[in-house]
Amino acid sequence: MNIAANPAIEADQTIYLKDYQKPSYIVDSIELNIQVYVDHTLVSSTLVIQRQSEGDLVLLGRDLELQSISVNGQQLSESEYKLDSEQLVIANAPDHATIQTVVRIHPESNTQLEGLYQASSDLFVTQNEPEGFRKITFYPDRPDILSVFTTRVEADKKFPVLLANGNLIETGEAGEGRHYAIWQDPTKKPSYLFACVIGDLAVMKDRYTTSEGRDVALEIYAEEKDIPKCKIAMEALKHSMRWDEEHYGRAYDLDNYMIVATSAFNMGAMENKGLNIFNTSCVLADEEYTTDAAIMRVQSVIAHEYFHNWTGNRITCRDWFQLCLKEGLTVFRDQSFSEDLQSSAVQRIDDVAVLKAHQFPEDSGPLSHPPRPDHFVEINNFYTATVYEKGAEINRMMATLLGKEKFRQGTDEYFRRHDGEAVTVEDWVDALSAGSGVDLSNFLTWYNQPGTPKLEVKSEYDVESQTYCLTFKQSLKPHPKYPNLKAVPIPVALALFDAETGEQLTLKSTALVANGVKDGVYLFDQDEATIEFSGVTSKPVVSLLRNFSAPVNLEFDYTDKELAFLLQYETNGFNQWQATQTLLERILLNDQPAEIYINAMLNTLPDLIQKDPLLASRLFDVPTEGYLGSRIDENYQPSKIKEKRNALLNKLAYAFGNTVKEIYLSLDPELQSDFSQAMGVRALKNIMLMMLARQGDETAFELAQEQYSSTGNMSERLGALRVLVWNDALQAQAVLEDFYTRFKNEALSLDQWFMVQAAHPEATAATIKALTEHPDYDLKVPNRIRAVSGGLSNNPVNTWSFGVQHYISLAKYLDEKNPIVGSRLLQVLSRWYTLAEPQRGEVKAQLEALKPLVKSKNVCETLNSMLSV
Ligand code: ARG
Ligand code: ZN
Repeated sequence: MNIAANPAIEADQTIYLKDYQKPSYIVDSIELNIQVYVDHTLVSSTLVIQRQSEGDLVLLGRDLELQSISVNGQQLSESEYKLDSEQLVIANAPDHATIQTVVRIHPESNTQLEGLYQASSDLFVTQNEPEGFRKITFYPDRPDILSVFTTRVEADKKFPVLLANGNLIETGEAGEGRHYAIWQDPTKKPSYLFACVIGDLAVMKDRYTTSEGRDVALEIYAEEKDIPKCKIAMEALKHSMRWDEEHYGRAYDLDNYMIVATSAFNMGAMENKGLNIFNTSCVLADEEYTTDAAIMRVQSVIAHEYFHNWTGNRITCRDWFQLCLKEGLTVFRDQSFSEDLQSSAVQRIDDVAVLKAHQFPEDSGPLSHPPRPDHFVEINNFYTATVYEKGAEINRMMATLLGKEKFRQGTDEYFRRHDGEAVTVEDWVDALSAGSGVDLSNFLTWYNQPGTPKLEVKSEYDVESQTYCLTFKQSLKPHPKYPNLKAVPIPVALALFDAETGEQLTLKSTALVANGVKDGVYLFDQDEATIEFSGVTSKPVVSLLRNFSAPVNLEFDYTDKELAFLLQYETNGFNQWQATQTLLERILLNDQPAEIYINAMLNTLPDLIQKDPLLASRLFDVPTEGYLGSRIDENYQPSKIKEKRNALLNKLAYAFGNTVKEIYLSLDPELQSDFSQAMGVRALKNIMLMMLARQGDETAFELAQEQYSSTGNMSERLGALRVLVWNDALQAQAVLEDFYTRFKNEALSLDQWFMVQAAHPEATAATIKALTEHPDYDLKVPNRIRAVSGGLSNNPVNTWSFGVQHYISLAKYLDEKNPIVGSRLLQVLSRWYTLAEPQRGEVKAQLEALKPLVKSKNVCETLNSMLSV
């Protein structure tokens, strides 16, 4: 339904958590018959329903052409029900009834990629989370109604693959060159987990035997040419299945597990029961065509969707306000899985970098909301970094506090209590508390309020008494919609080091969760508190919030020397990285000399490059312009930040001197023992190449050209391409053309080609225009849009100049055609109000001008919130 961008009308559409009511009817079973034709699809459904409480029978439906409806075999006339654009209501329906409907839908012209849609000439797929099922048939489309689904799919034989959830129970001829398949899913599920696929696809098959002895057929469906690129995903799937058995005691529960890849998908992937549907970008992985980062992402998304089978599917959400119940927990689980796959410190660094780059800014701006929101207009707007990433951090905090064993007891209790149910965040925290024997109820505060807490810490050492004290203080910026912000429980993981020897000290403090250990955790849950360590014989160096034990902004008055010390001696790789980030930010923002960082790096690198080249590569991270900008709340001038960051990069490049070329030439990914090491070596090589170019060394471009043409690996090829393109090297044009010719039929590789050019630091409006007018640019394919729009957003100076019009016109164009993606892209501009004048006023005027032009709930809600600062 459309609404005008008018706050009064919008207020009308707002849904509140406090208004939750149990459904009046439950659905015992549903039988679907889906018949796909060229210009329409017929959907017949039979629901067996039962009254559960007072109220009308409400069947939700959107964009459905109703052909007929009957109750217990009796056709209803139009006067016997009320139908509007959102629902069909039958008053006084019987307590037990069979409801039959027939509707016509149009997947062939569905550009929103929600419900059943034609993804390509030979593929139809579904996306039903959160509210897509109502675009397929009339149904009480809410997650607290669980039912048994039987699905008949019928189509022309030119679509040989007919899939739905569960077990295949029958196939056959349907006449006129058509055929059908009937699937039955024995597990009760909410409608958002329903899926079906009709298409012409090839398949990769494998098998897996669960710890319970179940033999499971594994299938990944993709285009024929992409089948070899499914190998990594298949291995990751088996690995995830084993991992969930070992770490959570959860085994898979059906005889098959299918994954279908499509290039037309709004998000990453979807955990439909036994039939996941994936964006190709999250399933196809191959060194030749996709980057190392993409390969890691594929493995984590495969794990994520698999883990949903228990956290999401077997135990689902009572209502969509509880989205972070399944997403926060599942992200925490996939992050832990990925920590076992590669350098665990780097996995944590990358996850925190995402949190700080997306969630922290979101939480400090007009789109800020609690991980469990208490109201929304369009739930699709709440698949956010806060729900996913901050949600994961809350679970991580509880896991850190409990330790492995108690956390497992807690999750066991959760599965024992709630298997087969639709539950709330409270149910989760209760079960975790009961199972572990530790009361975690004050963690609910984290779920219920927005904002990133500031954690201020001060230290004091007393030689005489040999005591070391830390004073903690927490605070939150006042929030207009949440006046009663409370202190939250903050687990502070910490360590003390001997400042002379670098040795880690044993912690003697009764305030810690455990006394007399080296890796300690202090649970800080008041507004202010002081803790004391005894037996500290000299002033130590403290390392706080190790492994980023809580999603807060830490303020501690480190000296540069202490940061350099941590870079060298901290054994927690994450905090080693954090020290470099703090140092670099200081050098950048306060124009401090870079020597202290350089020297510490030169001391640390030789060993680290051998041991963990990936971590070594991350220690070169310089906070991005976007991140630095997001820390500025007013008078933000993107070009100032760019200038300073550039100056720092130049300073570093020169200060590292010959080391840069030496490191570059000494590295060979071929000689590494495993993927993670090789990935690290490739990352380091690319960084060195970029620095070499900054040094003005002419050989940089020759080396890049050589690296480009001699490799068969996408990360190496792309790294070289980037150096040439971003530095406008003479070779750039030829290499871009070569890349295009090589990969023009490989959509994911071609996305990278678009992205590199859009992300050129000196890209202009003309660059973007040329890309969006390129014959391979396609507004129907979200991945391609994101390649250009995402590349552009890499450079805030460009984003906030000609980029503004780019995002606004996309939001306008996609408003009704694909509102989910349109609304997301508009969010790039959410921190407009921090800009310095006159830019601030100019962007505001452009946003205001968009208001009367948009209609979808998605874009209207986002725009209204953005303008409400
Ligand atoms: N549940 C899916 C996942 O996290 C994401 C579905 C997102 N859908 C949406 N309409 N926003 O794996
Ligand atoms: Zn998920």
